[in-house]
Amino acid sequence: MSALIDAAYIRRLRNSRGEETVEVIIETESSFGSAIAPSGASKGRHEAVAFPKGGVEEAVRRFRKEVAPELIGLDSLDQWSLDRLLMELDGTRNFSRIGGSVAIATSMANLWAASNALGLPLYRYLGGPSANRLPLPLGNVIGGGKHALWRSIPFQEILVVPLNPPSYAAALSLVVEVHREAGKLLAKLDESFAGGRNDEGAWVTRLSLTKAMDVVKEAVRVVEKRSPIDVKLGIGLDVAASSLWVDGRYRYEGRELSAEEHYRFISSLIENYGLIYLEDPFHEEDFDAFSDLVKEFRDVFIVGDDLFVTNIDRLREGVKRGAANSILVKPNQVGTISGMLETVRFARENGYRIVVSHRSGETCDVTIAHLSVALDAPMIKTGIMGGERMAKHNELLRIEDGLPSSRIWNLSFK
Ligand code: PGA
Ligand code: ZN
Repeated sequence: MSALIDAAYIRRLRNSRGEETVEVIIETESSFGSAIAPSGASKGRHEAVAFPKGGVEEAVRRFRKEVAPELIGLDSLDQWSLDRLLMELDGTRNFSRIGGSVAIATSMANLWAASNALGLPLYRYLGGPSANRLPLPLGNVIGGGKHALWRSIPFQEILVVPLNPPSYAAALSLVVEVHREAGKLLAKLDESFAGGRNDEGAWVTRLSLTKAMDVVKEAVRVVEKRSPIDVKLGIGLDVAASSLWVDGRYRYEGRELSAEEHYRFISSLIENYGLIYLEDPFHEEDFDAFSDLVKEFRDVFIVGDDLFVTNIDRLREGVKRGAANSILVKPNQVGTISGMLETVRFARENGYRIVVSHRSGETCDVTIAHLSVALDAPMIKTGIMGGERMAKHNELLRIEDGLPSSRIWNLSFK
């Protein structure tokens, strides 16, 4: 069986921040697939470059002239060859010639075309017959850092995740309730609060970081207590610490902390708030601090996002130095589905946990919802509120609905 590509198109669209991005459409003799590239705001230094010099216009021009003609006649079912061709046509290490956005949109569009050619949902095509388990939704309740246009907390995300929900539907309802409850508390405690939300639909606030964390902790308590089912929720943080690291110091809330002082603050937060998830607590070159934290808090998800940028070479370095125990997987950081799969396989072999993630600039593209099930990821980080975030949740609800024997991850044993 084959599904030869007979057409490939590109068009310019916009993401949830209103920035330009690209959609790629692949047609085979018997099927169709399309995908849209997401965009980061707090990008890792080592991730694929989104667009070449010359921007979206140049990327589109190169796709039409150099990429599309080469795709014609390829077998869509051979994802690996298509991805290798994208790398060859680009010829750089970080997709700086054709643009990582063009690469990932093409790679994901092909994945859709291939699964449609076989009449399978994408999660089944990629994950095989055993892909029956839903991830836990890890959602952004209060946000700041580079995701808030106006002043908010210095850390990027205060997150919440249900640990033992009976279903994805129940899990989603819990995170939505925590978000709403936190909004009500902010309205009481923060005089300047007017319901403002950031790029990912998380609340923005003038409260201090720890006061904002108290709000989330209280919202979690209220929702747990009110829930008719016995359910536990965990709290997490994406510090996105690279954006706080300036001239050898962590600078936030009027403080200038040395690496050691910041480390101590982070470990006190883990203890005081019982955090179960910590993403990028240190800047992206400080592998040693990551490995110290893993040794101290083995059961906590210590997650590398900017640290690894879904890149196997960065992860190899991490494994060698014992940095982190989990990896954030963002397909557009690496630029191809095959590159992502290679990194995920290596992560698994070395006992790292997989968290599939959106970007702050998103569209209603739902590819990552399928990837999270195909990869059997324990968590998906895709926000809580906003149409482009809910698009992924709704797709996961559809997947759950279509799976007669679906299960969902349970992390309550910790
Ligand atoms: P980004 O943020 O998409 O702006 O990089 C998401 C994250 O850091 O997890
Ligand atoms: Zn992050």
